[in-house]
Amino acid sequence: MQPCLIALLVITAAISLPVAAQGMQVPKPSPGLMPNPAAGKALFEKSCASCHGARLQGSDQGPPMLSTIYEPSHHGDAAFQLAVRNGSRAHHWQFGDMAPVSGLTPDEVAQITAYVRLEPRKAGIQ
Ligand code: HEC
Repeated sequence: MQPCLIALLVITAAISLPVAAQGMQVPKPSPGLMPNPAAGKALFEKSCASCHGARLQGSDQGPPMLSTIYEPSHHGDAAFQLAVRNGSRAHHWQFGDMAPVSGLTPDEVAQITAYVRLEPRKAGIQ
């Protein structure tokens, strides 16, 4: 085998290993999608508001999304994709685990994420 081919294989293995070790793939929205918060609002109201509140204020089933806990620096967009696809174990609050939400494409989750990002800014949380 050519030495450079071996080097290439080693590099490929090194890149793919951390992803495999995580065991989860983050669902990816379509490249170039410009998420639309208005579309996200409708989807949020349908799929998420029963627990996270129609105005993201939370309910007795789930936490408020206006909390600084969900600002982008703490919960990146991948956290939304993963929470919807796989559910989420309770770790910040006392509501119990979040079950996976079926029937949403990664693009739709990106719309919801855009909506959730916009609302706290309106409420003055950066
Ligand atoms: C049946 C109730 C319920 C529904 C429906 C629901 N959630 Fe949740 N969600 C929860 C609970 C409970 C938690 C866990 C909070 C904790 O303790 O960390 C949570 C946590 C999250 C988190 C944080 C995950 C993390 O990594 O900490 C995100 C993001 C989230 N939900 C997004 C959504 C979105 C988007 C929808 C709609 C597609 C949705 N949720 C629908 C109950 C719900």
